Amino acid sequence: MTYELIIVQSEAPIAIVQINRPRQLNALNSQVMQEMTSALETLDNDAAIGCMIVTGDERAFGAGADIKDMADATAVEMLQRNWIAYWDRIKHISKPVIAAVSGYAVGGGCELAMACDLIVASESAQFSQPEINLGVIPGAGGTQRLTRAIGKAKAMDMVLTGRALSAREAEANGLVARVYPTEVYLDEAKKLAREIASKAPVALRFAKESVNKAFESPLADGLDFERKLFYFLFATQDGHEGLKAFVEKRKPEWQGK
Ligand code: CAA
Repeated sequence: MTYELIIVQSEAPIAIVQINRPRQLNALNSQVMQEMTSALETLDNDAAIGCMIVTGDERAFGAGADIKDMADATAVEMLQRNWIAYWDRIKHISKPVIAAVSGYAVGGGCELAMACDLIVASESAQFSQPEINLGVIPGAGGTQRLTRAIGKAKAMDMVLTGRALSAREAEANGLVARVYPTEVYLDEAKKLAREIASKAPVALRFAKESVNKAFESPLADGLDFERKLFYFLFATQDGHEGLKAFVEKRKPEWQGK
């Protein structure tokens, strides 16, 4: 498949999906989102790939939804376009997706990073939901995922004023997993992706699903969900291989079964 606004690099067992609209600071129009979701879905079905990275460039991960595309749209047109559904499609990817963020992660760009499973940031990354300054509010998870990630006080501060969190603040507040110098953040994200991709694939998928479930369900439901997945892993070859390998003091060999 050929793409115009993203670049896909396969470095099995990982793959990198890079947004490529540098002159618009990687603003997310529907073509970018369509290409990105279909690339991620294709990689999700590729047995050679275990973990994906979504990234932009050093200056901008993504400057948000394309404002020029929305400026004259009516409510009904926005409803019919339904392009915010692309953010939901990213959530349904079964393999782990890392957002490697440098520069602006603004509006829909911040929401895209949050729709991924974890965020690795460069020291120059900044996260904001400035929609209030456009007379609207975040529409792709910015009031919901952000609040769950960093709590009400900080989320209100960001969403009501549009102020940005630096990479370090984002890390301190639980939005970002790891921060690296700008020169190496992508290499470090790749290293992390390779480490994740080396794990037992079915357990990896369940681990991701189960942590994400904590975002969306009451504790009792999440615990119940987790326990069932845990028991189910005893029906996999890799589950037994991992436990036996520990007992036999050797490295496990995963079969993905
Ligand atoms: N949509 C369309 N174009 C955008 C854009 C966006 N979100 N963000 C930046 N651009 C374009 C600019 O129009 C400019 O293009 P031209 O050279 O053709 O004029 C180019 O990218 C460079 O931008 P700036 O000159 O503004 O760069 P800067 O370094 O001075 O500022 C910035 C950077 C602070 C990110 C600023 O561009 C900005 O505020 N952008 C808008 C950010 C924003 O409000 N995003 C939220 C969008 S709404 C949303 O995302 C809703 C949702 O929840 C889904």
